[in-house]
Amino acid sequence: PETITVQELANRMAERGADVIKALMRMGVMATINQTIDADTAELIIGEFGHSFRRVSASDVEIGLMGEEDRDSNLVPRPPVVTIMGHVDHGKTSLLDALRQTDVAAHEAGGITQHIGAYQVNLEDGKKITFIDTPGHAAFSEMRARGANVTDIVVLVVAADDGIMQQTVEAIHHAKAAKVPIIIAINKMDKPGANPGRVRQELLNHEIVTEEMGGEVLTVEVSAKQKLNLDKLEEALLLQAEILDLKANPDRAAQGAVVEAKLERGRGTVATLLVQKGTLKVGDIFVAGTEWGRVRALLDDRGRPVESAGPAVPVEVLGLQGTPLAGDNFVVVESEARAREITEFRQHTHRQKVAAASARGTLEQMFSKI
Ligand code: GTP
Ligand code: MG
Repeated sequence: PETITVQELANRMAERGADVIKALMRMGVMATINQTIDADTAELIIGEFGHSFRRVSASDVEIGLMGEEDRDSNLVPRPPVVTIMGHVDHGKTSLLDALRQTDVAAHEAGGITQHIGAYQVNLEDGKKITFIDTPGHAAFSEMRARGANVTDIVVLVVAADDGIMQQTVEAIHHAKAAKVPIIIAINKMDKPGANPGRVRQELLNHEIVTEEMGGEVLTVEVSAKQKLNLDKLEEALLLQAEILDLKANPDRAAQGAVVEAKLERGRGTVATLLVQKGTLKVGDIFVAGTEWGRVRALLDDRGRPVESAGPAVPVEVLGLQGTPLAGDNFVVVESEARAREITEFRQHTHRQKVAAASARGTLEQMFSKI
């Protein structure tokens, strides 16, 4: 049911909270400033004060926001978005570092510095893979909880000398919950104690049947340290991507997800966005969760300014008015007025939820004292 707090109602009418509480009392409703009242009661109160109103529901404000479904004829292949997971110290960061060095452009430029928590690797035949560097499994599931399913493929890193550990199992659960395919990177193959057969055997206990065991899950034996078989891992990722038939329409208003966002001194809010549909351009107005912005600048994963970013491209964006949360979805809208309408509505709804939760807390406190 639709509700509003007494405080919010008073604010919206530009009336004093105490007067609203008095008006409610005259109607036989006892409420404190932080309590919520239902929409019908609120309407009566608004009438009492001689104000006009319009009831707005989430669907009214958000209607048409995500645009139309794309036609197949508008879809073109896009790079896969890959998240690397695994137990602590099994070599996730080392593997990401090693993979980044396979970037053909990196060789020309003499190494690259990653500026944001996501980057693209350019392979020799012009193919690309996007890697998202979310620290830890908590971040992964948190993003999913906020509605952002950004990952197409999970690479599960398992150290060949250590085998399946607690966080390996957690990662398997997260990947399964997200319904994304898993590719196993059996890492540290250079170590004397490496035993890839045991890793495959242990995976069976978690319903992961590798090709070698007669199943379909690909495994690649790698060494991040010796840069062994990184090309094979990339091949496996591209093969999996081909099976998934990943496509997007680049010719539409951009949509995607917030990978991370923070407030930086002198720069304002800096957000890393992953474009999932359409093309994001400098000057675009967009909403991200409860915030909005106008794209003042776009920077690629090496910190270079770019004019636009298409599907599966991660970019750093300047120009947000507030700081959204990782995992919030973003979408480009037609005007600043529309952006304000949507974010004001979302902020209002958010405040309602917080107020309702705290009002419950107060009630519980009151009862516990009786
Ligand atoms: P957390 O981020 O702490 O969970 O660890 P991680 O999974 O990112 O592991 P990281 O890449 O930090 O590597 C952990 C240790 O394993 C480091 O000392 C690495 O040098 C070592 N290591 C990583 N890959 C390899 C490998 O292929 N062979 C060997 N011998 N050591 C490796
Ligand atoms: Mg690490």
